[in-house]
Amino acid sequence: MKKLIVKIALAASLTFSAFGTQAVLAKPANTTQSQPYKVFDHKIVNQINVDNIYNNIDYLAKVPRVAGTPAEYNAVQFIKNEFKSYGYDVKIQEFTFTGYTPPSNMALSVEGFTETLSPSAFTYTPSGDVTGNIVLAGLGKKEELNNTDLTGKIALIKRGEIPFGEKVLNAAAAGAVGVIIYNNTDGAVNGTLGEASDQYVPAVALTKAEGEALAAHVQNNTVSASLKVEGAVTEERTSHNVIATKKPTNKNKVNNNVIVIGSHHDSVELAPGANDDASGTAMTLELARVLKNVPTDTEIRFITFGAEELGLLGSEHYVDNLPEAELNRIIANFNLDMVGSKDAGDLVMNTVDGKPNLVTELAQASSKRLNGVPTPYAEGGRSDHVPFGEAGIPAALFIHEPTEPWYHTPEDTIDKISKEKLQDVAEIVGTAVYDSARFDNMGPKEKKVKKEKNKALYHKKPVK
Ligand code: BES
Ligand code: ZN
Repeated sequence: MKKLIVKIALAASLTFSAFGTQAVLAKPANTTQSQPYKVFDHKIVNQINVDNIYNNIDYLAKVPRVAGTPAEYNAVQFIKNEFKSYGYDVKIQEFTFTGYTPPSNMALSVEGFTETLSPSAFTYTPSGDVTGNIVLAGLGKKEELNNTDLTGKIALIKRGEIPFGEKVLNAAAAGAVGVIIYNNTDGAVNGTLGEASDQYVPAVALTKAEGEALAAHVQNNTVSASLKVEGAVTEERTSHNVIATKKPTNKNKVNNNVIVIGSHHDSVELAPGANDDASGTAMTLELARVLKNVPTDTEIRFITFGAEELGLLGSEHYVDNLPEAELNRIIANFNLDMVGSKDAGDLVMNTVDGKPNLVTELAQASSKRLNGVPTPYAEGGRSDHVPFGEAGIPAALFIHEPTEPWYHTPEDTIDKISKEKLQDVAEIVGTAVYDSARFDNMGPKEKKVKKEKNKALYHKKPVK
C-alpha cells in the first residue's frame, strides 16, 4: 500500500509539474529559430539560480587556491559543506604529489668577471651554496662528458639538443656541484628541469650574451665561481578531490550508468581564478543542488578536482584509481572549466579526439532546444576531461573560446564574470544531463574504446 502511494505521488509530480501537461513549450525568446523546450528542460532551467553560482565564485575567488596550500584546502572544505547542505553524501579523496617552490634568491659570482650576471632559475633546481672552478661542458651530453672529470666543478653548458634536466643529471653524474646553462637564442630561458629529482645539483640559466662572455672568460683559464640558490623547496604535498554522489531515485528502477559532472577547484599561483575555475566549481555546485530535486535512474557524481593546474593530477588520480568495472559504469564526463568570462568568446565543447560523443550529442540537442543553435565541438585537451577521454569515456570540456586576456593572471577576478554566460552553460549542461539521467530515458550505453595515454596532454613538456 505504501509503495502504491509513493508511485501515485511520483506520477502526479511528474504529470502536474509547474508547467502543466503540455508536451513541449516554446522558450519566450526573441529569436525566431528557437526550438521548443521540453517539459523536462523546465524542471532544470526554472531551478537554476545564477546568483548562487555568482556568489560562490565570489567566495572562492577571494584568494588563489594553489594545489597543496591551505587556501586550496579551505576551498575543499567549503565545497564539501555546500554539497552537504544540499543533502549529499560527500567523499574527500586525498592524494599526494611532488610540489615545488621556486627560489627566492639566486647569486652567481665569478672570479675576475666584472660584468653583472642575472641568473634565472630552472623549475625543480634544488637550493645550494656551491663553489668550484668553471668547466666548459659543451651541450652537456653524456658522450661529451665521458672523459671530463667535473668533480667539485661548476659546469657551463650551452642550451640545445637535449632537455635541461638531462644536462643537469649528466653533469651531476660526472661530479659537478653546480650547473649554469646559457641560452642559444636571444631572450631569457625561463625553463624547467621537467620533473623533480634528488640527483640534481643547483642549476641556473644565463642569457646567450652572458653565457658567451663567461665562456670566453674561462677559456684557457682556471676561474673559480660561487653559485647560490636560496629558498627552493621540493617536497611531497597533499591535494584532494571532492565527490558528491546522487544515487538513482528508485532502487527498483535503475540502470548501472554513472554521469560525472566535474570541474577543478585549484588555481595557479597569484591568480584568484574566478573564471579558471571557480566558475566551473560553482556551476558544479549549483547543478548538484538543482539535480538533487529531480527523479533520476542514473547515478550522477559531482566532482571537483584538485591540482588540475599542476598537470590534471586530481582527475588522473581519480580515473587511475577506479577499478575497471567502476570505470565501465561511467557513460559521460561533463567538464566545466572557464565557463563564465565576459571577455571570452563563444561556448565550445572540446573532446580529446575532436570527434562527437554522448556528451556533445546530449549538449548539442539541449543547446538546440534552448537556444535554437547547437553548441559546436572541436578537438582540445588541457583539462580534466582528458583522463576520462583517454580511458574511453565520452567526455568534453565546456569552455568559451578564444579565452580571455586575464587567463592565469591576477586579473582573473569576479568583476570579469558574466551571469548571462553562466546561465547559458548551466542550462545547457543541466538539461543535457537530465535528458540522459531522467527516468523515461534508459538509453543504450556507448561502447568505450580505450585510447593510448598521451602523457603530453597531462604535463607541460620539458623545454629543450
Ligand atoms: N582552464 C585551463 C585549460 C584551458 C585554457 C583550455 C585555455 C583551453 C584554453 C586549465 O586550467 C589549464 O590551464 N591547463 C593547463 C594544462 C594542464 C595540463 C596543466 C594549460 O593549458 O596550460
Ligand atoms: Zn582551468
